[in-house]
Amino acid sequence: MEDTFFITTAIDYANGAPHIGHAYEKVLADVIARYKRFSGKGVYFLTGVDQYGQKVQQSAEKEGIHPATFVKKNTKKFSNLCEKLGISNDGWAETTNDLHKSCVQSILSDLEKKGQLYKKAYKGFYSVRQEQFLTDKERNDKGEFGPEWGEVVEIEEENWYFKLSEHAEWLRQAVESDALGIIPSFRKSEVINAIERASDTDLCISRPKERLKWGIELPFDPDFVTYVWFDALINYISFAGYNKEAGSDLPEFKELWKDVVHVIGKDIMVPPHAIYWPCMLHAMGFTDEEMPTLLVHGFWTAEGEKMSKSIGNVIDPMAPVEEFGVDALRYFLARNIVTGKDSDYSRARLAVIFNDELANNLGNLLNRSLKMTKQNTEGKVKVTNYEDESCLELRGSLKKVNVEYREKMEAYDLAGALELVNNHITLCNQFAEKHKPWELAKDETQSERLAMILYHMIESCAHAAYYLSPFIPESSLKILSQLNLKLEDKSVSEMKWGILTDGQEVSKPKPVFPRISL
Ligand code: MSP
Repeated sequence: MEDTFFITTAIDYANGAPHIGHAYEKVLADVIARYKRFSGKGVYFLTGVDQYGQKVQQSAEKEGIHPATFVKKNTKKFSNLCEKLGISNDGWAETTNDLHKSCVQSILSDLEKKGQLYKKAYKGFYSVRQEQFLTDKERNDKGEFGPEWGEVVEIEEENWYFKLSEHAEWLRQAVESDALGIIPSFRKSEVINAIERASDTDLCISRPKERLKWGIELPFDPDFVTYVWFDALINYISFAGYNKEAGSDLPEFKELWKDVVHVIGKDIMVPPHAIYWPCMLHAMGFTDEEMPTLLVHGFWTAEGEKMSKSIGNVIDPMAPVEEFGVDALRYFLARNIVTGKDSDYSRARLAVIFNDELANNLGNLLNRSLKMTKQNTEGKVKVTNYEDESCLELRGSLKKVNVEYREKMEAYDLAGALELVNNHITLCNQFAEKHKPWELAKDETQSERLAMILYHMIESCAHAAYYLSPFIPESSLKILSQLNLKLEDKSVSEMKWGILTDGQEVSKPKPVFPRISL
């Protein structure tokens, strides 16, 4: 496939339950994937969960169950979330899968053979409670390790290291030349600073089995398991068919690994995605042209506060889906945030946006135009010769939307694209208020004008339904079906005036966006 777009989300840590931040990331990636399909691209969309690591082992121990049972239970919560949110992923990654494990192990063996890995003893301070080595950065103002670290002991431990520092200079150039794309670009300086710090430190990629059993065993040293980030990052290629075993039904890697975008939150850009991952790929032999782009999104707070389990304000995304419907949540998550910046989840704001832009604006336009078409032109679109300034203005507005919608979507400015569509619908409702088709209907001499006004209104609804289809797929399909149109009949490059033709039958209106009352 020549024109392929490969998109992934971060894989969610199967140690807890999904929250609104997880839902946002999936919706963001899903809107992009659906838009690319609407653009006629072949898309492969991968998401999933990572299931290994220290915290999973501890949580499973606390519950007195095996980590495998524990992750199975939590993984279900994330797969349910994807289903509820209408996420159109093509692949699903679970890192305890055997194919992933063998891919990680084959990569480790190759890197070891290439001399990219070495074993050494490290002596340092270790927090028993947090089970991690501490550096001077963790010392407080008094130069001590604070009580949050619990008992701190000095230990010496052997581990395996990846020669990350050997790739630092290459990475700096890859970031500066945009071979490794970083969106938004203001985050590039953060990455450059982090490369500075990585240039003299290698990456510890193992954990001794006495400390951690729940991980992928190093193929050349069975006393160790793989550090969870090293294993988790590899999901992006292992589930896309990299080094796949004969007979596996994974896709052909070379077909997919083009135009790669990883959608991630800002907390996991540095160091894992912008430092470890490109260096790992480079060490494996990936070229500059094969480097991914990182689309780094911001964080959601909940009703003005940082979400935290201890405050108890973590927003479960299933709740607004149950209460308002999936498209209300999807629309809000795309509309109320600038891609790359932070935003706040508020139930009241969700309702206001839904009512203003969907129920009162688009919903109203669709209802009134279909109702009057049924009453006045036998339920058929009628194209006549009526023309005036306001018709020209409306068609001009739509022509502008046709161009700018694509520009915004290509630049991942989802809220901007939605604003364009909404502004056009507002203009259409003003157009209706100006012409008062309900008055024109009382005067037989105005029938040509009436038909043409209704045509402009319905044609605009048709455009809106296509443009909104990546965002609110269920509702868009409902609108298209009332207009007797099919989603698959149009690609974004074919969007222009005249989707509806003279004589096209349309249905009676069935409300698509019932108002939310709080
Ligand atoms: N398991 C790692 C990622 C491995 S990728 C190879 C991880 N998991 S996570 O569950 O903690 O986070 C998953 C994603 O959700 C990350 O991209 C993270 O940035 C994002 N978010 C976590 N909290 C968030 C918000 N409050 N708001 C928006 N996104 C947030 O990190």
